Amino acid sequence: MSHEYPETFARFYDLIYHHLRDSADSAFYLGEIRKTKGRVLEIGTGTGRFFLSSLREGADIYGIDISPSMVNVLREKLNSKDQHRISLQSIVDFSFKTRFDLIIAPFRVFMHLIEKKDQIKAINNVYLHLKRGGRFIFDAFIPDLKSLLNGITNQVDFDGEYEPGNRVKRTVSTKPDLINQLINIDFLIEWDETGEKKQEHWLTPLRYFFRYELEHLVERSDFKNYKILGDFNGNELNQKSVEFIVVCQK
Ligand SMILES: C[S@@+](CC[C@H](N)C(=O)[O-])C[C@H]1O[C@@H](n2cnc3c(N)ncnc32)[C@H](O)[C@@H]1O
Repeated sequence: MSHEYPETFARFYDLIYHHLRDSADSAFYLGEIRKTKGRVLEIGTGTGRFFLSSLREGADIYGIDISPSMVNVLREKLNSKDQHRISLQSIVDFSFKTRFDLIIAPFRVFMHLIEKKDQIKAINNVYLHLKRGGRFIFDAFIPDLKSLLNGITNQVDFDGEYEPGNRVKRTVSTKPDLINQLINIDFLIEWDETGEKKQEHWLTPLRYFFRYELEHLVERSDFKNYKILGDFNGNELNQKSVEFIVVCQK
């Protein structure tokens, strides 16, 4: 199954996620990039939610993503002198000659890896591309067992104008696949276009993690030092945590 993000999803991504997600993670990731003196790689750059402002602030940042539709949206925003910073590559087997001081995979990129062998290859590939002392940061949500089991049915998570007079609405439904540890998500995007109502579904699985599985995974990798934070303010995991933020150091 392809996990590439479709064109319609990429088209409305900025509008929806600057609104839904910036307040949660943006200060944290932008702060980590800002305090890095050296080269940064963002994996799963998407349409450039962090990439663009970091570049404007002067970061020496590179980006990879596997979805051509997402990369195309980002490319349109970049000057020709910065196009070389972006490439279509997967976290599993990307390759650069250079080594990085910070590698980040923000906002569920790692949850797109369904297979154990891809997860371990990805972490070790990141390790290979870090300088000694360099860090790798990624996040995953902590499964809320009630909504995981019951699933979500037709929850509207965005409804607004994308241009004057034209609206876009996104509706999310989920179903668990417990034995394969997946949440199968059905995104329905409905939008107005040239006087018509359009709609498109995108079905995609996300691999959910529990705490000790993540710990085992990192401990099986080449990283020897890591910690898992429970929020984007730097707090330890606690009963109220809704995020795993994994910080590994080479
Ligand atoms: C939820 S988006 C996050 C985008 C961006 N980091 C942000 O925070 O807005 C996840 C991104 O990961 C990308 N992705 C999924 N699997 C990937 C892989 N194996 N390697 C690199 N990128 C991947 C998707 O194409 C998508 O752009």
